[in-house]
Amino acid sequence: MTFNNLMVTGGCGFIGSNFIRYLLGEEDFQGRIINVDKLTYAGNPENLSGVEEAYPGRYFFERADVCDAERMKEIFARYDVDAVCHFAAESHVDRSIRRPEGFIYSNIFGTFNLLEIARHRGDAFKLFHHVSTDEVYGSLGPEGLFTEETPYRPNSPYSASKAASDHLVRAYHETYGLPTTLSNCSNNYGPYQFPEKLLPLMILNASEGKTLPVYGDGRNVRDWLYVTDHCEAIWTIMKRGRRGETYNVGGASEMENIVIVEMICDLLDELMPLEGGAKRRSLITFVKDRPGHDRRYAIDFSKINRELGWSPKESFATGLRKTVDWYLKNRPWADRIRSGEYRRWMEEHYGG
Ligand code: NAD
Ligand code: TYD
Repeated sequence: MTFNNLMVTGGCGFIGSNFIRYLLGEEDFQGRIINVDKLTYAGNPENLSGVEEAYPGRYFFERADVCDAERMKEIFARYDVDAVCHFAAESHVDRSIRRPEGFIYSNIFGTFNLLEIARHRGDAFKLFHHVSTDEVYGSLGPEGLFTEETPYRPNSPYSASKAASDHLVRAYHETYGLPTTLSNCSNNYGPYQFPEKLLPLMILNASEGKTLPVYGDGRNVRDWLYVTDHCEAIWTIMKRGRRGETYNVGGASEMENIVIVEMICDLLDELMPLEGGAKRRSLITFVKDRPGHDRRYAIDFSKINRELGWSPKESFATGLRKTVDWYLKNRPWADRIRSGEYRRWMEEHYGG
């Protein structure tokens, strides 16, 4: 299936920006991308610098809130949008615990709004792909994996809002016959991730000799996937996935948080040793646990593997090395975000 005018929502965030770069480089996509992003604190146009110039006439940016029905209708009509890949969301669990409202608004109402507009586009509309998370399934004990049949049991306001949006997508397919696909993916890591999430936070803090705050006992497990592998999975599903279906996407890389932090410390000690040979592991500090902290996530991705032939290419060891390398080389990117320079630039260009 080909798409001529693909709306990517949340394209200035971590995965969305990686996806846009990935897709514009794929030979089997020759259409236009319309990136719709509200530019919250997590949306950074710098993540896509050079893209418009590299692909003339194929990349467009619209600063807009996916909850704004009038703006969205106008953008769908003006670009003759025939498919949506929906990333836009509030995405950080800790923020959802402190202030859930924005998650309910953007993640649930925003998805509803796009689905409503999409269904009124009629037969010209080819696909609504919804990007979701394995966190909708809740928490696992020491054994077992999440499959597409695992019942939803979200534990945080973030995962509950994503679960609600997944249900809306499913309902729009069942009720209105909207062509949809849905992916539930494990934790991503790689370039352009906002430095509040585990990997970039630890890489940047460790490189600066700052404290490394590990929640609880550090034994919580996540299944890590390099972001480009996720992008490839999404594109594979969009092209060839069965409509109305859900696909789990994972990295086959289950890791305890503490092990990851130790790996980052050791890698940085190798790449940029501290004076006197001090070891960065001494920076690790166990802090108060996150409330409702899910113990373990692990993904069974045999469905996408069997039906569509996808599997992750990157191992955690190779992906981590690439990621550490990227953050060290792109220090000014992170410095600008953290110093407020990026906020000031946003105010000048976009009025805040
Ligand atoms: P992110 O926080 O880095 O980016 C989110 C982007 O959405 C930002 O650019 C932000 O400005 C934009 N946005 C937020 N609310 C908006 C609104 N109302 N209107 C328009 N734009 C809005 O997030 P991410 O890590 O790139 O995640 C992207 C998607 O992938 C999310 O839906 C998330 O649930 C899902 N996901 C993330 C992971 C992960 O590990 N990061 C794993 C699985 C699924
Ligand atoms: P995070 O990157 O926030 O992703 P998610 O909560 O969506 O899985 O966190 C990944 C894991 O790392 C999670 O178990 C919480 C833990 N964590 C810490 O121990 N310290 C930190 O400073 C952060 C941000 C996360």
